[in-house]
Amino acid sequence: MPALSSTAAMTARTLVKDAHAATSPSGEILLQGWVRTRREARSFSFVELGDGSCLKGMQVIVNDSLPDYAALMRRSTTGASISVRGRLVASQGAGQRWELVAVEYVVVGEADASYPLQKKGHTLEFLREIAHLRPRSNLFGAVFRVRSRLAYAIHTFFQERGFFHVHTPIITASDCEGAGEMFAVSTLDVENLPRDAEGRLDYARDFFGRKTSLTVSGQLEGEAFACALSNIYTFGPTFRAENSNTSRHAAEFWMVEPEAAFLDLEGDMQLAEDFVKYLIRDALEHCAEDLAFFGKFVDKELEARLRFVVERPFQHCSYTEAIKILDDTTAAGHKWERCVSWGDNLQSEHERFLTEEHFKCPVTVHDYPRALKPFYMKVNADGRTVRAMDLLVPGIGEIIGGSQREERLDVLQENMRAHSLSEEDYWWYLDLRRYGSVPHAGFGLGFERMLMFVTGVANIRDVVPFARTPGNAAF
Ligand code: 4AD
Ligand code: MG
Repeated sequence: MPALSSTAAMTARTLVKDAHAATSPSGEILLQGWVRTRREARSFSFVELGDGSCLKGMQVIVNDSLPDYAALMRRSTTGASISVRGRLVASQGAGQRWELVAVEYVVVGEADASYPLQKKGHTLEFLREIAHLRPRSNLFGAVFRVRSRLAYAIHTFFQERGFFHVHTPIITASDCEGAGEMFAVSTLDVENLPRDAEGRLDYARDFFGRKTSLTVSGQLEGEAFACALSNIYTFGPTFRAENSNTSRHAAEFWMVEPEAAFLDLEGDMQLAEDFVKYLIRDALEHCAEDLAFFGKFVDKELEARLRFVVERPFQHCSYTEAIKILDDTTAAGHKWERCVSWGDNLQSEHERFLTEEHFKCPVTVHDYPRALKPFYMKVNADGRTVRAMDLLVPGIGEIIGGSQREERLDVLQENMRAHSLSEEDYWWYLDLRRYGSVPHAGFGLGFERMLMFVTGVANIRDVVPFARTPGNAAF
């Protein structure tokens, strides 16, 4: 508990979270925040002050003996910012231990009557339109506190296990996933593009002297560092220009990508399972109040599901077995929007069937067809499949994608030819196989998808502070 009773507390601000944690009534403390609600009683008013430090606000009792009482209360409308010095006393009301009796009350900034976040429930769609104000609501305050906590837990998980944090570049010349879904980065004048002798765009005249884009993954650069520092991770913004307007895709999202030398696919799957469980446990322990709120208002099953997930081993199933399960399900009369056979990408409905209906727990699907996956994955002895893995979780589907990497120079070169990638562009990546190549593996966890899983929030737009999706980059 920060210095509630020290002399510094006379001047320093106390957060509502710390005030609630007080073990005894305090001398004077200073709370600062925003008015959530105000109610008038006969000789005093209740003002609920929230400062975002926790879900609960602090009930402030303002007695009408305070100078300028009537004017202060008139100005204390929902959304106004206030600064209140007062004494913490045991609360008479239910649901809170302490309340603050105001000794000095200042309205710092009034809120216009048009303040859009009134007490009544708002739809998520409406709140997206006021993304600059929605963090002041209970739901979004909780989401973004959990987001912050999990970002912290990501670092502790890897740091405690000897992984070094590497800042891989945001601007890159390579398309790691090979899906051609990159946002171009250029300073060329789009009204007047330079052309070469053949009439093609002349990237040599662009800022970097070549074609560059925002990264879709830090993996390739991460591999260079894993092949030096052994265990590394990157955690940063990632960009994909895929035009899919789903509840699970954002054009800008954050990805955590560990990469480890001397690690094979089995070790990689275990690392992913340990990681996901660690994050869930961390949230259960450190975000209990916010999770209880989601359990009440977003998803009643949330806590039971999270506890179930941390307590059981994840299932493993090869892609070939998965297709067999789906085939059997089709034969038993299940109707799909799209049928799959060996060699097809699993659609979201198939992924969710596997994890929600068949295994009823998180499941790692591994060893996918070679043709479905990027060039860097290690080819199996069968020549048809690669050492890939996707972790699927109930309610969301794929949350992690990873693989063991192809460490053999000749096989990697063959893969690159098959993907029409030029060796010239990837010379440095090939060098990693020329100089002390080692088996290595890694994965990428979509941070927002993990947040959706932990909070029960169903749309990715609602776990990103300011979401970027097709047609949408306001704020
Ligand atoms: O499966 P992906 O494409 O894998 C990679 O990018 C690898 N280079 C990772 C690695 O091995 N280092 O993406 C990894 C994860 C997905 O499982 C998903 O959770 C998330 O990133 N993801 C997205 N999240 C939100 N919006 C999108 N458009 C996403 N695309 C992928
Ligand atoms: Mg994937």
